[in-house]
Amino acid sequence: MTKQNTAAWIEKDRKQLHPTYHPKSHANPLVIERGEGVWLYTTDGQKILDGMAGLWNVNVGYGHEELAKAAYDQMRELAFTSNFSGMTNLPSIALADKLAGFAYEGLNTTLFTSGGSEANDSAFKTARYYWKRRGRPGKYKIIARKGAYHGITLAATFATGLEKYHSMFGPAMDGFVHIPAPNPYRYEGQVKAGETIGQAAARELEEAILREGQNSVAAFIAEPVMGVGGVIVPPADYFPLVRAICDQYGILFIADEVITGFGRTGEWFALNHWNVKPDMLAFAKAITSGYAPLGGIQLSDQIRETMESAPESEAYMHGYTYSGHAMACAVGLKNLEIMERDHYPKRARELGKRLLDGLKTLSEFPFVGDVRGLGLVCGVEIVSNKETKAADPARTMQIFKAAQELGLRSRPLGNTLAFSPPLSITADEVDEIIKRLGAAMDRAA
Ligand SMILES: Cc1ncc(COP(=O)(O)O)c(C=O)c1O
Repeated sequence: MTKQNTAAWIEKDRKQLHPTYHPKSHANPLVIERGEGVWLYTTDGQKILDGMAGLWNVNVGYGHEELAKAAYDQMRELAFTSNFSGMTNLPSIALADKLAGFAYEGLNTTLFTSGGSEANDSAFKTARYYWKRRGRPGKYKIIARKGAYHGITLAATFATGLEKYHSMFGPAMDGFVHIPAPNPYRYEGQVKAGETIGQAAARELEEAILREGQNSVAAFIAEPVMGVGGVIVPPADYFPLVRAICDQYGILFIADEVITGFGRTGEWFALNHWNVKPDMLAFAKAITSGYAPLGGIQLSDQIRETMESAPESEAYMHGYTYSGHAMACAVGLKNLEIMERDHYPKRARELGKRLLDGLKTLSEFPFVGDVRGLGLVCGVEIVSNKETKAADPARTMQIFKAAQELGLRSRPLGNTLAFSPPLSITADEVDEIIKRLGAAMDRAA
């Protein structure tokens, strides 16, 4: 691309509409030219430590030669071909084979999509398909959680439990029900005497199933660690209870591991922290470390079986042009090879502990209410008063901006600053995040 000054790029950029656009939030965008490791370089000469790995996804860091080569080689061989029923290609076969049982035992079938929203839409449709095939067509509702983010297609929007994503796109789609999430710092549901927050939040699921009617609920969807909702790490008792309730009432459990998948939390997939298996898994983002758009769902053998026995009139009429995209799957395969070879989940565990411990030292600031995380995904919640836990989104933005001026990219989520750097980050670079954030807090204090 020809070199021109940043103001000219920004002027030209007005011809594209950006996700979650508002003129105020996009008044002075960073124009990124290049990335290397955890570092981003802008057209106006800034060097920024990307504490978010793009959007939680660039696990192996920027500028990885092996991934570039995998894409190049596959594009030359075969970039794309239809993957609709009756045709297939080698990289999608190899990646689906690699993924069989990789995340969870018994999840052996993959449908590929281009990203996470499509994955979740596919999971909802597959849940409905499954129950229709099982002679239970009335089971169509999805129970999700308040604060959840499941994406931006119409169904994923209304599965999302954040009102700001709904208000300009209503009326709400029928069939999505939201219950409180087990937020240990500020749980919004009722905790009965003798109950833990995990038990109280799991009870909300049972009550919602009974309220809506067991015969109308198809599935429950949850992010093992909530991302956009503010990096919420659940108590250890929550997901085992959720699994038991789903089993008791015949509800499919969909794990949305679009952020937590592929090593981010220190396990390859996050429900493994609590020895829980879902019936369906949605993945995207780090499957290719962001080097190609790719996502998908994995299905339990039981769900797969309903497809094998279907009459032709009940074919699974779902899928995308780019399901099983040859180049994207080749990149995904190479990316998994790199993450296995370089022990990325272990890195996330060890460096995640360093990051969390370092961030906790910032609790001395009077406005740091809570610091939490699992592996290399952490959140720092900013409050105006530690006793009342009153939210302080204005100061959160102030710290976010100060950090950006100091060359550190985080993400403000309400009143939480999120950190989710590439898993390739070094110990020194982790320390750099803490140093720069501390300096940004000094400025904001
Ligand atoms: C948990 C979760 N699910 C789904 C999505 C949607 O994925 P995509 O933006 O690839 O459609 C996201 C995106 O951030 C996410 O964080």
